[in-house]
Amino acid sequence: MTQANGKVEGKTGVLFVCLGNICRSPLAEGVFLDLARNQGIADHFDVDSAGTGNWHVGEKPDGRALAVAKKHGVTLVSVARQVDPAHDFSQFDWIIPMNRDNERDLLTLGARRQRTRLLRSFDPALSAETGADLDVPDPYFGQGDGFERVFAMIERACAGALRQLSNA
Ligand code: 4NP
Repeated sequence: MTQANGKVEGKTGVLFVCLGNICRSPLAEGVFLDLARNQGIADHFDVDSAGTGNWHVGEKPDGRALAVAKKHGVTLVSVARQVDPAHDFSQFDWIIPMNRDNERDLLTLGARRQRTRLLRSFDPALSAETGADLDVPDPYFGQGDGFERVFAMIERACAGALRQLSNA
């Protein structure tokens, strides 16, 4: 049941956030849900994604994100929307930005620091490394294998996030 603050009772709310909500955060949303489904625990989570910017509101994910996801057997279902602080910061238990710019913008909008964690901080290989670069780079303007590299980063980090948030 959905409560007055938007929180879905009994579920852990997870919101993935990037800039445009057409590349990285839809991939993270799709991968996280796919992993959770494979483990039979998708119904433990209320998962969504959003962008800090509004340029692509209403659009489906970028064709390159859809293609890389499909190649790895993941379906992306998101329609781009902008972060809605009044609603999102109460509905979702965890706000998960893709990079430090997104994180800074979210904290400025009022996200709680203890509930806001960079996606790659959940990657066990990186969290053990001091000074590791925890940004998922923006693939939108890039060329070549950018989306493939970003997919691999997101997949490792989502596996860690699913493990850690399942035990939280
Ligand atoms: P995303 O990528 O933040 O991963 O969805 C981007 C998409 C669009 C733009 C920038 C980044 N843009 O400037 O339109």
